Amino acid sequence: MEKIAIYPGTFDPLTNGHVSLVKRGLKIFDQIIVAVALHSPKKTLFSLEERIALAQEVFASCPRVKVEGFSGLLVDYVRKRKAVAILRGLRAVSDFEYEFQMALMNRKLSREIQTVFLMTDYKWLYISSTIIKEVASLGGDVHGLVPEVVEKALYKKYGKKD
Ligand code: PNS
Repeated sequence: MEKIAIYPGTFDPLTNGHVSLVKRGLKIFDQIIVAVALHSPKKTLFSLEERIALAQEVFASCPRVKVEGFSGLLVDYVRKRKAVAILRGLRAVSDFEYEFQMALMNRKLSREIQTVFLMTDYKWLYISSTIIKEVASLGGDVHGLVPEVVEKALYKKYGKKD
């Protein structure tokens, strides 16, 4: 049977760190669904539709990667998609507390769903969607840190470059 993993997040916006994690996850799982959350504790710069469209464009050439939006509880969505695991990336010790809390809450809500953590590639250790947005909003160069479509979308949002 196909092993499906759900890679959930706010993806506001998708970074090269996220892309790298999906590619590595594909070595473990048959299919990865990048699940863009409507309900996230964060206020977003991009709408749900924009976040989904950007991720879809980035993974358009990857047949084993699907991008979908989801609303409501993550565990309900994981069950609906018959996925075996939730995939999350870990950058540093600072991520650990938040990730541990979410993984345990998800486990409390659904015992049969496992959370699998992959360490972020060292090249992307220092980047996050938040820091990317801050730099781009202040006119800094984020080239090479996010996919090209995302770079363009950021400059469009902040009214920089073309
Ligand atoms: O990478 P992020 O942006 O921190 O992702 C957080 C996300 C979207 C995975 C989390 O907020 C989530 O799962 N939201 C869906 C609603 C839900 O199930 N919340 C309880 C999670 S313990």
